[in-house]
Parts: sequence; structure tokens; C-alpha cells
Amino acid sequence: MMYSEKVMDHFSNPRNVGEIENASGVGTVGNAKCGDIMRIYLDVDENQVIRDCKFKTFGCGAAVATSSMATEMVIGKTVQEAMQVTNKAVMEALDGLPPVKVHCSLLAEEAIHAALWDYAEKNHIVIEGLKKPKNDIHEDDPVEEE
Ligand code: FES
Repeated sequence: MMYSEKVMDHFSNPRNVGEIENASGVGTVGNAKCGDIMRIYLDVDENQVIRDCKFKTFGCGAAVATSSMATEMVIGKTVQEAMQVTNKAVMEALDGLPPVKVHCSLLAEEAIHAALWDYAEKNHIVIEGLKKPKNDIHEDDPVEEE
């Protein structure tokens, strides 16, 4: 079987789909190759703990499954701890992804990072190891044609 049971479960029954009004941080990223788009919303409390996380995607099944798993993994963590939710960690939690779908899991990680960046900027804090997201589509960088 190409996809693990966990991937199929999160794909057919994704967790935390939706929007958060007045979110503490929002990140939107796109994958130039497939054109898929991912948006992550974070609700962070005064102790920098992620109270809620929701996602919206215009993306493939693997992107849906990884985002669903990633939102579950960041809820309850501090914004600093959320940095441990890498695409590798999410893939492991899903019992793996086919090699051609690995880039889809990157979209979830990048969207979380973009949302954390947005939160950090708004609150004037530094999240260690967090870099400015390069494909946050809010930015008006010229889009590279491939
Ligand atoms: Fe684009 Fe999966 S094919 S995110």
C-alpha cells in the first residue's frame, strides 16, 4: 500500500480544518512546483502556549494529512517547542510518506514557521532557530517561473 493507515485516516478525516478569527499568527505558503497553498492559524496564550491551531489548504491529499497531523502536534506546545514539529517529525508520526510526496510535508512545516514568524513579529519576541519564511505568499517577491 502506498499510503500508511495514518495518512489515509488524516486525509479522510482531517483534524483542525478551518480558520481562527483574530489569530495570534497566520502563515500562508505556496509550493511553486505543484501550485498548492497552505495557510496555518495559531491561537497563542499569554504564556506563549499554542492553544489552538487550524489550517486551510488548497493542496493534495498528502498535504492535507501532514497539516492535519502537524496541527495536532503543535497544540499544547509553546511557540519555541513548536519548532520541533519538523516535516520529518510529522512524517514519522504518520508512519512515512512515499518519496514523491515528501515535499508536501514541507508545506506544513513552512506554513507553521510562517505563522510563528508572524506571531513573533507581532509580539516582538525571538523564536530560536526560526528563520524568516521565504515563500510566505504575503510577500511581494517576484515568483520564479520553473
Ligand atoms: Fe503539492 Fe502535495 S502535490 S503539496
